[in-house]
Amino acid sequence: MDSHDSSELPEIIPTHIAIIMDGNGRWALARGLPRLAGHRAGTENLRRVIEACIEFGIRYLTIYAFSTENWGRPKEEVEGLMDIFEDVIDQELQELSDQGVQLRHIGRLDQLEPVFRDKVLHALDFTKNNQRLILNVAFNYGGRDEIICAIQHMIKDGVTSDAVTADLVNQYLFTAGVPDPDMIIRTSGELRGSNFLIWQGAYSEWFFPPVYWPDFDKEQLRLTLEEYGHRERRYGRLSPGAEEIDSNAC
Ligand code: IPE
Ligand code: IPE
Ligand code: MG
Repeated sequence: MDSHDSSELPEIIPTHIAIIMDGNGRWALARGLPRLAGHRAGTENLRRVIEACIEFGIRYLTIYAFSTENWGRPKEEVEGLMDIFEDVIDQELQELSDQGVQLRHIGRLDQLEPVFRDKVLHALDFTKNNQRLILNVAFNYGGRDEIICAIQHMIKDGVTSDAVTADLVNQYLFTAGVPDPDMIIRTSGELRGSNFLIWQGAYSEWFFPPVYWPDFDKEQLRLTLEEYGHRERRYGRLSPGAEEIDSNAC
């Protein structure tokens, strides 16, 4: 274990970080390896980032593991990814639980193989009382799909048009009860959201560290958190003090 000096901790720690773990394929390609080797390296990195989040005192971490659009990749890659996810559950569940991680799933489970789905459900149940870090795994997740699902459920529940508010929509999303992400990090240099948390990310701060996901280490996370500390979140309002300056102007 590395020695931990609290002066290294970033000054401002957000409540909720969301990450688009992108660049596994290019990481592998750059090394002359198959894409799946990149996905395995990405999974190992995830373990390290989870540990760093725990050490930094992050309460919620949401990771984009597989999108509703990723089904469109070649069959071997999709099957390989499913195998990797299954291995992660088999090999890491106990340790994640020992670290106080509560696993939650966002997305749809119904299109998954029954054996895999059962493993996921078992992992959610096994960790449900842990409180140190809530880890939302976006798997077979799409932001548009989530909103469609919410609308369908509201209609089924007989919600009337007047009752539809932002708070109510929040309650119908996969992330019900989870605060909106303060920051969304996308590794690999791609500058887009790719259907991730499109409702919840309305006022998130975005970061695009120029490294592939398997190389996004604790130091990268610390630097990104420091950058977050320098951002001003205005939510459409003015900076504190700006109104005063304006009213003093003639
Ligand atoms: C992200 O890495 C992981 C998944 C989408 C499952 P990619 O596989 O998208 O890697 P690149 O973007 O091709 O490098
Ligand atoms: C987003 O990355 C999905 C995940 C990281 C799971 P993609 O690599 O699938 O997104 P695009 O195709 O570059 O937009
Ligand atoms: Mg990608």
